[in-house]
Amino acid sequence: MKISTSFLACKDIKTCVSNLDKTDADYIHVDFIKGKFVTGKKIPFRKLKRLPDYTTKRLDVHLMTEKLDKYIPKFSMLNCEFITFHIEATKNPMKYIKMIHSYGIKCGLAINPNTPINEIEPYLGNVDLILVMGVEPGYGGQKFIPDVIEKIKEIRKRILFHKLDVLISVDGGINDKTILGINNYIDIAVAGSFITNSNNYQDAILLLK
Ligand code: DX5
Ligand code: ZN
Repeated sequence: MKISTSFLACKDIKTCVSNLDKTDADYIHVDFIKGKFVTGKKIPFRKLKRLPDYTTKRLDVHLMTEKLDKYIPKFSMLNCEFITFHIEATKNPMKYIKMIHSYGIKCGLAINPNTPINEIEPYLGNVDLILVMGVEPGYGGQKFIPDVIEKIKEIRKRILFHKLDVLISVDGGINDKTILGINNYIDIAVAGSFITNSNNYQDAILLLK
């Protein structure tokens, strides 16, 4: 299992990301909120575009916005391993899957806790990653919603059934306890406050791994 670290709960992005860069984290998870899709902690793109100054790790971009035509091209200029958008944010997911792939970047599809799996199933064969939200998107430091465990298992089943090569990532509410219920079913754990509120980022990451 890989670890993607979110800095959404941090006060100072530069210090936080520079410290995450020194750890064994696999990716830096980038939460971007804009427009009507969700209310939450907004970090403007003009700040996020400086991330490559603070880390050489690949970015795992999580777009919480309906403004995909504008922001997919902007984020594609950074060092992205994945760009993920929400199934709830658009009526035309295929357009954006193709757009992300056109930049040679892996595409993720995110699903909120209350959205049924059937909404993402038609696209399972077209994406590289499913980002299952463990909390309602918006803020770091929320409690993991236990119902999401069943959802993760069901998505894993459907990926196996269709014999697909799709990664499952879980985002929100991950700590050393909640990880235990899901680590057998997921490829990537996105963790923010558990790591960035700890005294030692590397130790917290090792606890999750
Ligand atoms: C929530 C974000 C998450 C969040 C994770 O909208 O997508 O990435 O910041 O932070 P923790 O691990 O604190 O829940
Ligand atoms: Zn996120």
